Amino acid sequence: MIEERIKQTIRDIYDFPKPGIIFKDISTIFLDAALCKSIVKSFVDKIRHLEPDAIVGLESRGFLLGPSIAMELGIPFVLIRKEGKLPGKCIHETYDLEYGTATIEIQENALASGKKVIIHDDLLATGGTVLAASNLLHKLNIEVVGYAFIIELSALLGRAKLEENKTPVISLASYT
Ligand code: PRP
Ligand code: MG
Repeated sequence: MIEERIKQTIRDIYDFPKPGIIFKDISTIFLDAALCKSIVKSFVDKIRHLEPDAIVGLESRGFLLGPSIAMELGIPFVLIRKEGKLPGKCIHETYDLEYGTATIEIQENALASGKKVIIHDDLLATGGTVLAASNLLHKLNIEVVGYAFIIELSALLGRAKLEENKTPVISLASYT
């Protein structure tokens, strides 16, 4: 089962990025090409029926598998990046972090108004990052038809925030 394979592969790193935090290190997934292929296939099987026009990936770890999922579906991959990285006219969204704020951006002409997208990221924790991405896309009149994560930290309750408007939330491995 894909969930077990993911859990066997990723590592817990203690006290990163600061004391008391147990960091889920997904980098080991990318040492295993067969597992990467299986993960992409799982995503494709779970999201194809939602008929997205594009996959939107969140910098930086949403860029690791997002393009492969999009290629497999034969649809575009669109980047949402951290502030100041994208050329041309961008729109942005600022959101709260534990300490301070962060800003993400998308190019204004990246997607036409009315398109339907899936947002992809490696990890759903509090949901703050992906909610900001969703708000950003709504400013461009883009409809978010689903969310796709490799792993979910369910104790941080991000899912409930995303499901408020009944949008499907897909995660391949969940930690309580
Ligand atoms: C991590 C992770 C998600 C986000 C999840 O990214 O990759 O994007 O945090 O947290 P949330 O649900 O509480 O918002 P991070 O901002 O550490 O940056 P990175 O992907 O560039 O490593
Ligand atoms: Mg991230």
